[in-house]
Amino acid sequence: MTKLATIVIFLCTFATFSHCLPLSTSSRWIIDDENGQRVKLACVNWAAHLQTMLPEGLDQQPINNIVKQISLMGFNCVRLTWATYMFTRNSNLTVAQSFANNGLHDAQLGIAQKNPQILGLTVFEAQRAVIEEMGRHGIMSVLDNHLSRPMWCCGNHDGNGFWGDEDFQPKEWLKGLDIVAKQYKDLPMVIGISLRNELRGPLQNQSVWYKNVKKGAKTIHKANPNLLIIISGLNYDIDFTFLKRKPLNLLNMRNKIVYEIHRYAFTEGQANWFLTQPLNKVCDTIKKEIMNKSGFLLKGKNAAPLFVSEFGADQKGMNPSGNLFMGCLLTFLVDLDLDWAVWALQEVLNIVQNCKLFNKNSKIQNQKKPKYYLLFHPQSGKCLNVATNNVVQASSCIGASRWIYHGDGTSIRLTGTSSCLTTSREGMPLTLSKDCNNNEKSRWKLASNYQISNIDENGKELCLDFDTNYSLTKFWLGNVLA
Ligand SMILES: *[C@@H]1O[C@H](CO)[C@@H](O)[C@H](O)[C@H]1NC(C)=O
Ligand SMILES: *[C@@H]1O[C@H](CO)[C@@H](O)[C@H](O)[C@H]1NC(C)=O
Ligand SMILES: *[C@@H]1O[C@H](CO)[C@@H](O)[C@H](O)[C@H]1NC(C)=O
Ligand SMILES: *[C@@H]1O[C@H](CO)[C@@H](O)[C@H](O)[C@H]1NC(C)=O
Repeated sequence: MTKLATIVIFLCTFATFSHCLPLSTSSRWIIDDENGQRVKLACVNWAAHLQTMLPEGLDQQPINNIVKQISLMGFNCVRLTWATYMFTRNSNLTVAQSFANNGLHDAQLGIAQKNPQILGLTVFEAQRAVIEEMGRHGIMSVLDNHLSRPMWCCGNHDGNGFWGDEDFQPKEWLKGLDIVAKQYKDLPMVIGISLRNELRGPLQNQSVWYKNVKKGAKTIHKANPNLLIIISGLNYDIDFTFLKRKPLNLLNMRNKIVYEIHRYAFTEGQANWFLTQPLNKVCDTIKKEIMNKSGFLLKGKNAAPLFVSEFGADQKGMNPSGNLFMGCLLTFLVDLDLDWAVWALQEVLNIVQNCKLFNKNSKIQNQKKPKYYLLFHPQSGKCLNVATNNVVQASSCIGASRWIYHGDGTSIRLTGTSSCLTTSREGMPLTLSKDCNNNEKSRWKLASNYQISNIDENGKELCLDFDTNYSLTKFWLGNVLA
């Protein structure tokens, strides 16, 4: 009798690529099946779920240019959004028809100029062309079922929030997942599908969540067992607390399950907190809230990866809450070494520098202690840096000074030197000193998760911060805010 061997094909040959496909999970990490190496998703969202059902911006730039930009910015993946009806009701619609139906004549001319090859394709084929182009540049795709009816998302009463809503019938939703999962079976660079974006609205119900999440996951897994299956929580993708009592039982696809959450300054109506409370306190409260609502998923015997698949702020810096929020969230993402996708490509394309702050290889799986720290000031986005004249100042985090710190009550030493951070008293700037071991002034405590502090001669605890007028040149000791 001939024994049939299952042949598993791994894709490892991309020059721009340091790992193989498909991907799986191992505890809280996304890994490459072949080698078990951690693969960290560092993605940007690309909206393709709007009325035209075409990825945004193809009337402005050739696909190839946009994809090159994505790659140059350091992203290794795109969370590409899609609407169910594109596959279940509009699969024969051409790009030209779609733009004509929406009265977008100028945009149609733009496409004719920048991407003439796609005008005659169906919206379905055009999506594939974009995904294939990304694959050629080493960019993986996560296909996010954003809503059913193509339009801007999301509101409590937009008919797309929860199963049973006008435009969110389970059957058609499952059909869409099945079509998309099968459609890209031949493209390993499509690494995962998310079941549904931001579940929300008055129909939310936990037992309905369990039932449909299981159905959706099974549908995708059956159609293409290589895919990661990405699962949204309740209340706009922030809440999984119910899984503490009753974990999701999907044993046969356990190594494919990834949970996703979203977070913005305005999440849970918190935008005003950033403007009215000390940042350390707000950051700390929000971090605890995230850990309670979803962060617990990273631990324990059911541990799974947590993908922060949407977060962001006005990249032009025009939203004060958003500016403060970003520093706070980035610190959190780095601290927990999470997979992430920033919202969104249309906003980051012109503002490349900001993205370089994300270090997608910031930590390696199982690495016990970081080799060095950067001292980051979330409120300004700057890092502590020693200038050539030994002056301690705030400047760009790119190339900033690296520090050794062994935790509560120890000194903070500049790597490769015997100098450490010292201060004298309240209102005085930070300096470098060689007197590191027996000097109270060189011992730093953790005042909170986000602050280091020192004790003055009267025993008063003082925090390191910028000078109060934010000239952003020197760090000073000041009152503990949290
Ligand atoms: C697309 O066209 C094919 C044949 O041309 C047809 O069988 C199919 O039903 C059409 N699909 C939709 C969603 O209209
Ligand atoms: C949730 O849905 C189940 C099943 O449809 C139903 O029995 C239950 O009453 C619902 N719960 C709430 C709070 O609406
Ligand atoms: C964690 O969440 C649960 C359920 O929502 C809530 O009852 C509890 O108060 C929260 N705990 C903290 C520390 O926020
Ligand atoms: C801000 O502080 C610096 C000292 O760091 C001082 O020289 C400057 O005059 C201050 N600016 C204002 C506007 O208070």
